Amino acid sequence: MHKWIMATLLGVAGLLAVYLLTFNLPEKEHQVAEEEFTIPDTPADAAAAEAFYKSNCMGCHGDQYQGAMGPALANIGSVLSKEEIYKKVLKGGGGMPAFEGKIAEEEIINLTNWLAEMK
Ligand code: HEC
Repeated sequence: MHKWIMATLLGVAGLLAVYLLTFNLPEKEHQVAEEEFTIPDTPADAAAAEAFYKSNCMGCHGDQYQGAMGPALANIGSVLSKEEIYKKVLKGGGGMPAFEGKIAEEEIINLTNWLAEMK
């Protein structure tokens, strides 16, 4: 009796399924591809960071963080976000060497938190 109603409902359900499959899947893939990270908010070990700075960074950024071949870092905490500082130390660029793989991850995080406190 109401066969046409059932047929219509099934047809609509089928179209909906096809629509969801074609338009929703690529969107999910896009979300996964997006890069995102945060720096853990651990208090910086200032002594370790300073010692590290002196042997690895001072030559280009100055003994008073005033800058030399590289820019001044004396108030870098108000210039760049933690994520930006971390990325710069990790990847380098624009005349700065990359430190990724050269020093331990915790060392870079400690250095980042220490630099971020310079405001
Ligand atoms: C060979 C020289 C050199 C060394 C060594 C070096 N840097 Fe740099 N650094 C630079 C230069 C040049 C720039 C500017 C890059 C640019 O403009 O993109 C820079 C930029 C930066 C910036 C971004 C500054 C800003 O205002 O945008 C940070 C933060 C930084 N360096 C931290 C460090 C730390 C921490 C170390 C040690 C682990 C280090 N650098 C070692 C040359 C150096």
